[in-house]
Amino acid sequence: MSMVIVFGSLNIDLIMKVKRQPVVGETVLTSTYDWLPGGKGCNQAVACARAGVKTAMVGQIGDDGFGTRILNTLKRDEVMTSGIARSDDEPTGMAFITIDAKGDNQIVVASGANHLTSAEQVPNEILGKDNVILMQMEVTADQNWDVIHRAKSAGGKTILNLAPAGSIPLEVLNDLDYLIVNQIEGRQMAEKMGLKIEDSAISMASKLAKNCDLTCIMTLGPKGCIAVKPDGSGWMIDAHDLGEDLVDTTGAGDTFCGVFAAGVFKKLSLQETLRRASIAGTLACRGVGAQTKMPLNDEINDHLHLIAEARPI
Ligand code: RIB
Repeated sequence: MSMVIVFGSLNIDLIMKVKRQPVVGETVLTSTYDWLPGGKGCNQAVACARAGVKTAMVGQIGDDGFGTRILNTLKRDEVMTSGIARSDDEPTGMAFITIDAKGDNQIVVASGANHLTSAEQVPNEILGKDNVILMQMEVTADQNWDVIHRAKSAGGKTILNLAPAGSIPLEVLNDLDYLIVNQIEGRQMAEKMGLKIEDSAISMASKLAKNCDLTCIMTLGPKGCIAVKPDGSGWMIDAHDLGEDLVDTTGAGDTFCGVFAAGVFKKLSLQETLRRASIAGTLACRGVGAQTKMPLNDEINDHLHLIAEARPI
């Protein structure tokens, strides 16, 4: 069956809005909190499904109420959940998130059941040339590498969002079609590969694309994003500034990745895919929680005019 398969983490996000982040040893008070579904894998699956693509989530949750809440919300978004296992031994992953008055966040993640997520949960039978597989780095890296290799061998498209940053073995890079990083992750990866570190995002992304023989997408926060192909050609997209409507940036990167995967699945051009992913990532910042304001496909269409068309770099 053709679909996007998201292999990755599922968390409950415990979210507290604070006037400012505490310094070491300090307690800051806030009135209330939210507990909402999150985790990079789960967020990306929801973003992809809302962008109108059949999406399956593969991961692991605990045998607890947090896990049940995640499953219920995924089902409401029509994400296929049969690939999500429940652990008897570990609780559902948990992220503790504080958001300050500017919408900036600090996040601590306890992996819980996510670290038990196994490549065996993705049988070869569901991998094929019409599949796009999307991964992040909140499950055990070796499990990711196994899935990437089998997905690529089956002829599918492979996308890795290297978040949080880590190193990728050379043979895995050969199987990757798209690498999505922010500037910090890109720099850390380039350092680990022994590449000469460049200050400009374009030269850093170009080096990663050429040396890893893949398309490197680098997100630049409020400055937008760039994508560079192995031959050095590529595109640049500006971001839309939400101004006073910006509430919480937690879901921006994951929404970008999920909508990017949807564009790859639909075989849209790279520049169109970037533009849709970029506006979707911005729209997701209008509410508290990673998934709360992730847009549906129609909403992406309605807001596309807010971002100029991609420019060649
Ligand atoms: O990328 C945002 C996500 O990172 C949050 O939902 C949190 O669960 C952490 O995994």
